[in-house]
Amino acid sequence: MPRELNINENIVKLEYAVRGPIPQRAAEMKKQGREIFPCNIGNPQALGQEPISYYRQVLSLVEAPSKIERERKLKKLFKNNPAAFEGFEDNEFIPDYFLDLAEKILSQLGASIGAYTESRGPQFIREAVARYIDKRDGVDDRTGVPADPGKMYLTNGASEGVRNVLEMFITKPTDGVMIPIPQYPLYSATIRRLGGTQVNYYPDEDNDWTLSRSELERSISEARKNGVDVKIIVVINPGNPTGAVLDEQSVKEVIEFAKEYNLAIIADEVYQENTYGLPFFSFAKVLGKENVLLFSLHSVSKGFYGECGHRGGYMEVRNSFKVKDSEIDLADLFVKQASVNLCSNTVGQTLTYLMVNPPEEGSEPYGQYMQERKKILDDLHEKATMTKEAFKEMKGVECFGKTGALYLFPRLNLPAGITDFDYCMNLLEATGLSTVNGSGFGQKEGTTHLRFAFLPPKEMLEKVLPEWIKFHNEYVSR
Ligand SMILES: Cc1ncc(COP(=O)(O)O)c(C=O)c1O
Repeated sequence: MPRELNINENIVKLEYAVRGPIPQRAAEMKKQGREIFPCNIGNPQALGQEPISYYRQVLSLVEAPSKIERERKLKKLFKNNPAAFEGFEDNEFIPDYFLDLAEKILSQLGASIGAYTESRGPQFIREAVARYIDKRDGVDDRTGVPADPGKMYLTNGASEGVRNVLEMFITKPTDGVMIPIPQYPLYSATIRRLGGTQVNYYPDEDNDWTLSRSELERSISEARKNGVDVKIIVVINPGNPTGAVLDEQSVKEVIEFAKEYNLAIIADEVYQENTYGLPFFSFAKVLGKENVLLFSLHSVSKGFYGECGHRGGYMEVRNSFKVKDSEIDLADLFVKQASVNLCSNTVGQTLTYLMVNPPEEGSEPYGQYMQERKKILDDLHEKATMTKEAFKEMKGVECFGKTGALYLFPRLNLPAGITDFDYCMNLLEATGLSTVNGSGFGQKEGTTHLRFAFLPPKEMLEKVLPEWIKFHNEYVSR
């Protein structure tokens, strides 16, 4: 075997800052015994967020079905002879609702959770996703266009959905994908990996990161002048890293723009539950009957679910069309693409089913589910607010946009000659606070930012925020 090999240069060149040099240095420091405050990644359960009991109890029963029968037997024994269960309360048994649901899931899967499923996911899960979308958007046959389970694909997280769509569209180096800057680096990295062209557009930071038609026009006309064939526009709503939540007008602007230029839309809506009281306008709802090709993505990783490690999610296609010079429908091609990987993981699919199928109002576990959900979302909102307050005490720092997603993206306005990478590395060395430099997501030239994920426990933030304020004010005054 030669010692050096030529391999795919696109992979050599791609970058992914979220797990880049700063978090790597943080990991080294941790090994050396330093206290680290990990605010660099949206990985809720790694930072102490408790899983929602409903998900885990049902999943554990689906994973180990013999426990269903055992639990039923124990419940019966308890009912007949509570004295034999000294110290055990009625509410310590798994609710019948979960036992019944686990049985129902197993029977609908038709096999153990260890089996492959239909490539794009079983029909009952795709139907449940479609019902969820229609309920979320308040849509039925009369008021809009209901979601179609036949155009639904279960995925290993939203990342896989993004890769699948881009893989379908990028056929040559001049194929272009419009992405917002700053963006979640999955997009820049995947475009690079597939050998396409990244086309930047810039939401207006000073105007709470809103999208304007004139900026979209500027971006596409520049790309076209350079010979780029722009095929898709990506919108992340709520935004990562900006945390911005789009208003209905911005969503409409993108749809009208895409229609005029014959672009497909990727609507990355993985943070749709993280709007902290603001309304969420899905692309599917605002699109209505407009004939624009739309890919909507959602995931079990974020929201209040935080189940990143389970790798579940879905992609919905609207307004599919025939592939050029063939009779093939694009939606069917996605089935073929999924079938090459056999299927997405069945545990993640089951969790996606639970995500879109929460306990019904009035059911036994409903109260606990709603309480756990509220606690996580309230807590996140409070931590974001605390952090935003701290920014007010940092010289020159400005933070635009209403709070959404799991991130804040303050503009640092650093003195000339200091990059945001220098700042974040020095901040890490001085305080143990691990963040990601704005340049890792892309940013308007001449500006400096960092991304702060407001996930660690409140007590951690109470400890590190004053340290950060002190570091910042000294660092920028040197
Ligand atoms: C905007 C955005 N899209 C997609 C993803 C990928 O999520 P998943 O875990 O569902 O693959 C992330 C993860 O952080 C994200 O922030």
